[in-house]
Amino acid sequence: MFVANSLLGDLIAVFITVGVLITLYFKWTYQYWARRNVPQLEPRIPFGNITESMRGREFVGVTFKKIYQKMKSQKYRHGGIYIFTQPSYFPIDLDYIRNILTKDFQYFVDRPFYVNEKDPLQAHLLNLSGTRWRNMRSKLTPTFTSGKMKMMFQIMAESQSDLFRRTDKEVKSLEPINIKEILACFTTNIIGSCAFGLDCKALEDENSPFREFGKRIFKTTVFQRFKRTFAATFPDFARFLRLSSGRKENAKFIMDMVESTIDYREKNNYSRNDFMQLMIDLKNNKPKGDHDGKPLTLDEVASQAIVFFAAGFETSSTLMTFAFYELAKNPDIQTKLREEINSVLAKYNNEISYDAIQDMKYLNQVVDETLRLHPPAAQTSRRCIKDYKIPDQDVVIKKGTSVTISILGIHHDPEYYPDPEKFDPERFTEENKSLRHNYAFLPFGEGPRNCIGMRFGLLQSKMGLVALIKNYKFTVNKKTKEPITYQPAHVVLAAQGEIWLNAQKI
Ligand code: HEM
Repeated sequence: MFVANSLLGDLIAVFITVGVLITLYFKWTYQYWARRNVPQLEPRIPFGNITESMRGREFVGVTFKKIYQKMKSQKYRHGGIYIFTQPSYFPIDLDYIRNILTKDFQYFVDRPFYVNEKDPLQAHLLNLSGTRWRNMRSKLTPTFTSGKMKMMFQIMAESQSDLFRRTDKEVKSLEPINIKEILACFTTNIIGSCAFGLDCKALEDENSPFREFGKRIFKTTVFQRFKRTFAATFPDFARFLRLSSGRKENAKFIMDMVESTIDYREKNNYSRNDFMQLMIDLKNNKPKGDHDGKPLTLDEVASQAIVFFAAGFETSSTLMTFAFYELAKNPDIQTKLREEINSVLAKYNNEISYDAIQDMKYLNQVVDETLRLHPPAAQTSRRCIKDYKIPDQDVVIKKGTSVTISILGIHHDPEYYPDPEKFDPERFTEENKSLRHNYAFLPFGEGPRNCIGMRFGLLQSKMGLVALIKNYKFTVNKKTKEPITYQPAHVVLAAQGEIWLNAQKI
């Protein structure tokens, strides 16, 4: 009895000591920014400043937007936050943001992601760091010029007839339309065709394996979010545990696809104006340009195809979904856009061509205003790779520190956009744009590491908008949950409960 009591006592003492030590560790860690004279918001054990999103209650982009708003209301020009125990620098002042993304880019080349180097399919442009990133970016940049986009436009345009067929079918069923689902199938077809050279049939076949694959990569469970954040916070420990953020079945699905496409093209001497072809050329020939000059390996081709697919279909379908929603809510703007589309197309034989789309100025304003109000990528990040002094502050950002930039926060800041929740494309006339700081609009990030696929994303989104607005009139169906909130468990912005529209053929 005496022995048992003393054992229990020892155990309690150990638990209390461990508990006290852990609490002291957190308390000390959570003073990191205060010790460096950088203002901080009160973090909470154990998730720091992102508790709500880690508990699955809030989209992480909204958590960062609230942090931005709190710091701004306290007139901070910058601040510090904690992601778990990991300190992250949080700039608010747009000049600081410009310095980090562009002017002093050489200090902030990398992203703060943990990558499992054993998984070759994770070695894609979004994840790569340092020289490997520079080499890959430089080899891939010529793939995204406006000339190449013009060439690929033909492939994009082939998806239009499937889009009409599917929309017509849904309109005839007299049920409200889940617009995001149609558009995600549309962009899956386009990007599947351009990045993999495949006819994905996502618009025709509801169980298309590509659509299923697309859904799998964007839905995250609380456990996956936890694993990713853990890996980002403790990269060395994650490496030791060989944590993988990808799923094995996804890697196999892609690898099989890429191998069979390359095999078919090489055996049959078949060539096509798409990303896959441009990458096959980079694999088979010594690429020219300012890089290591090495051809791409098969794994490198496959991993770039994955990131083009993943970064390309969901972001653009999100952009179009919110554009349709805002146009459905604002019938005057919808009518004005339709008038522009009809009058410009009249000049181009009524054909939705690359040049016709470039000629649509109001369409551009509508798209920009949608990207402002609902930026699909709500935040971006960098890792500081050598100690960096913030100009005009007595603060040094240490090598290895991450930087978080809240795109959603900036885009909803009333200092730059008065009445920020209002959808108003007039904010993006040339004159109004010239009155704002260039870095007040960051839907594609900025600087040498901005979105490489911006032109492609804009082109496919504009094509989808023109095709449907020309032919259908949209209103919001009451099944849509308003006001719109964002799904917590999604990687990019997505409306909670989906967006349901009524469409009427014109
Ligand atoms: C509306 C559509 C899109 C939006 C809003 C979007 C947004 C973004 C943003 C915010 C970033 C981070 C930029 C930064 O940190 O400065 C990014 C990076 C990237 N995007 Fe996009 N994107 C879109 C479409 C696309 C498309 C169509 C592709 C490919 C075909 C693509 C491929 C990439 C890649 C590879 C990166 C990483 C670039 C690097 O680290 O060098 N994106 N995108």
